[in-house]
Formats: sequence, C-alpha cells, structure tokens
Amino acid sequence: MEFKKNILGIGAGYVGAPSMVMIAAKCPDYKVTVVDINPQRIAAWNSEELPVYEPGLEELVRQTRGRNLFFSSDVDKEIRENDIIFVCVNTPTKTFGAGAGMAADLQYWEKTARQILENSQSSKIVVEKSTLPIKTAQAMERILSSGKGDITFDVLSNPEFMAEGTAVSDLENPDRVLIGSRETPGGLAARRQLVDIYARWIPPEKIITSNIWSAELSKLVANAFLAQRVSSINSISALCEKADADISEVAYAVGMDSRIGAKFLKAGIGFGGSCFKKDILNLVYLCRFYGLPEVADYWESVVRINEYQQDRFIANVLQSMFNTLAGKKICVLGFAFKADTGDTRESPAIYITRKLLAEHADVVISDPKALANAASDLADEKGTVRYVEDPYEAAAGCHALAVMTDWELYRRLDYRKIYKSMVKPAFIFDGRNILDHRHCFDIGFNVFPIGKPSLTRF
Ligand SMILES: NC(=O)c1ccc[n+]([C@@H]2O[C@H](COP(=O)([O-])OP(=O)(O)OC[C@H]3O[C@@H](n4cnc5c(N)ncnc54)[C@H](O)[C@@H]3O)[C@@H](O)[C@H]2O)c1
Repeated sequence: MEFKKNILGIGAGYVGAPSMVMIAAKCPDYKVTVVDINPQRIAAWNSEELPVYEPGLEELVRQTRGRNLFFSSDVDKEIRENDIIFVCVNTPTKTFGAGAGMAADLQYWEKTARQILENSQSSKIVVEKSTLPIKTAQAMERILSSGKGDITFDVLSNPEFMAEGTAVSDLENPDRVLIGSRETPGGLAARRQLVDIYARWIPPEKIITSNIWSAELSKLVANAFLAQRVSSINSISALCEKADADISEVAYAVGMDSRIGAKFLKAGIGFGGSCFKKDILNLVYLCRFYGLPEVADYWESVVRINEYQQDRFIANVLQSMFNTLAGKKICVLGFAFKADTGDTRESPAIYITRKLLAEHADVVISDPKALANAASDLADEKGTVRYVEDPYEAAAGCHALAVMTDWELYRRLDYRKIYKSMVKPAFIFDGRNILDHRHCFDIGFNVFPIGKPSLTRF
C-alpha cells in the first residue's frame, strides 16, 4: 500500500512508543515506524509481551502493528526512509562532570542528531519530543546544519505532556498539544505539517503553537508546577500531623476555590517517576546558569520537600514500631511510582525500601505490574527482600504494611483476612492515604496515615 506520509519515532520507551502508536491508530494512511538502539526493547514491542504496561495500549498495538505501525532496530535505514522524525530518546539527569546531579544528560540526544545528519539523503522535519533544556533546538540545528549539500532540516519542539498510567487517554484526548517552531518560512511550513498530523483527531483549539524556546520551556515549567503542588500539600501534611488537622479536609476546602482547583492536592509519600525530579533539577540548573539563584533556590525546594516527606515517613515507621525494625517483616504494598504503570523510576518505594533494609527489616514487596523492575532496582541490596505478587501471601506473617502505590486493588483488599495473618500488634502506614483508616483501625490495626491523626491503641 502507498502511504501518504512516513513518520519515524526514535526511542521506543514510555513516550516514544505510545505516542507513535496513537499517530498510527489515528492516521491509518500514514506509515509509522519506531526504532530503538536497544534490540530487546524492539523485540518486545514485536512480541505478545509488550515492554511497557499502559491501560488500553495493547489493544491499539494489536490493531495497528503490521498494518501501518512497525518496530525496527535499523535506525540508519529508517532515518533515510522517513521525512518526519520524532526524537523521543531519554534525557536523564547527568551523573558526571559539570552539572552532575542537575543538568540534563544530552548524550543520547546528540548521538541521534548526528545519526540523523549522517544518514539523511533528503530534507527532514526533526521534532523534539523528549523533554529538553531551553535552547536545545538551537544546538540540534547547529549539528544538523554542519553537513554539506542542500539538504535542510527544520527543528520543531513538540513536548509530550502525557502522564504514565493514563498515556492512551492523554494522547487521545490531550488538554493541549504544543508545537514550537522558528518563525521563518521554513519553520512555519514545518509547523503546519505537524499541526496537520494532530488535527486528524485533536480539535484545532487544543493545538497551540509558539516560538520554539517557549515550547521547550513550557514542558519544564508544567512539570515544575505539578510537582510544586504535590510538595505544597505534602509540606502542609507535616503541619497537620502536629496540629491535629486532617490534610484531606484541608485539601478539599482549599481545592474548592476555583482559582486553586482540586487536582494534584493529594498528600502522600511524594512524587516519583522519571520526569518531575529530573525536570525540576534541569530548570534549577538553567536558572543558575542564567544567573538567577533566587529562582533556582525556589524551585529546588520542591525537590527538597519531596525528600523530606520520605524521610518523615521512615522516621514515623521507626518511631511507631518502638524504634527498632531489626528482624521485623514489612510488607511494601506497591512498588510502581504510581498506579496503572509498571514503571519504578524514582519511585519513593525504592528509597523507603532501602531505608527499611538499612534498619535490618525483612521486606516483602508486592505489586501487580512492577515486580521485575523492583527486583532490578534492588539488585545490589544485601538485605532480605522477597517479591510476592499476591498481596495476601505477601502480608502473611508481617508486622506492618507500608502502602507505597495508589493501586485501586489495595483499596479493595480484605483487611480483616490480612490482619488475621499478621504478627500483632499489626501496623499500617498508608503512604498514599487510600485505605479506609477507620475500618482498618476497627479491625485491630494501628493506622498511620499521612497528614491525619494516627489511629492507635497505645
Ligand atoms: N515517561 C514519561 O512519562 C514522560 C512524559 C513526557 C515526556 N517524557 C520525556 O520523554 C523522553 C523519553 O522518556 P521515556 O520515559 O520514554 O524514556 P525511556 O528510557 O523509556 O525511552 C527512551 C528510549 O530511547 C532509546 N534510545 C536512547 N538513545 C537512542 C538512540 N541514539 N537511538 C535510538 N534509540 C535510543 C532507549 O534505548 C530507550 O528505549 C525524556 O526526555 C522524558 O523526559 C517522558
């Protein structure tokens, strides 16, 4: 079949693959290919066992794969054959050299830019989908224009705002799609081509355009604002615990103000995931670089409160369990950084588990989707860790439950049955405030929510 457009996604990860799958699903007359340097990842996308769990994704892959969606490891060939290239490679925090622990590590991204240059035999539109520091498009343009000949490259910024766990619905029905371009004739023409793709399923008023630097910066700022709300409510949860207030009641009352809004006001053990911390640190680094230390400090405090919240949680577990965890069994309920994903990158559960092990607790980890990632995250741990998918089996014989992920499943467990199988006194530390605390207390548990009075028998 003759396709109208050929589109390539480089990087078959949590962002690249679902966003390309959505384009393939919505534009059956376009050929969409996804490539990755990791052949195992490509093999998994071509198999029945997809490497990323997202509600609704498997159905879309089944519908499109082999029809107009293809996964391949031949990056060079696909660059040659495609005219619109979405760069979706990872941009983690740098771990070495200048800016270590803060700045974005752009090595994967730069390799891709050079690979595009080396393999291109015709002009291309290159779309930054990865989250990148401001002015990265300029660096990309410089690399791409260093080649000889009359091939041209137009670089667009099209940051992805989807959230893991709701990727499919976010991609299908986004709050907005942002496309930044140069305001040159070439830049504007490239922008129009990208708008045309999204216009296949997204209403025009939701497709917004801007200059390229605004688009790059907007993604960092959006993540910083979201994370800031989490840290804001978590900071108040500490005060609630001291002052006998209830954080859910405070959040409800505050969120009713339409200027504030109710979303993202849930107290818990803090945000995780591969993006929030990385993107804020990146913003902080940029502010320092541009000589704005006050602005940098302001945003850095969002990350500090997140760490503080996790330290508070551990201190609370230790203190409530009579200041010793040595030899006690703790069941960690949930390891993914949030519900409906198997992703554990920067999950608070990693930090909490390591701290529990440092106190010589025995840890049993349960999660419906994230046990393989949990085992790899904790591969270097010497302490006793077991991985048990069934939550009832995981909790049996434990002294405490620590809820780390807001899986719906955990709300509906039979806590009476679990209580019976545990060592007494039995504790619940609800790091996500998702359980019915009064019910658990009535069963016999000592219950420690976040930002609310604890329910104990001591
Ligand atoms: N995960 C999210 O929820 C999310 C949301 C919005 C934006 N983002 C941004 O999107 C980008 C990708 O994130 P992700 O979570 O999908 O990362 P990821 O690690 O899941 O996927 C990145 C993929 O790129 C591949 N890759 C790296 N270098 C490559 C190269 N030179 N050629 C081909 N493939 C290469 C890797 O093998 C990996 O499979 C990041 O910049 C991230 O900040 C992520």
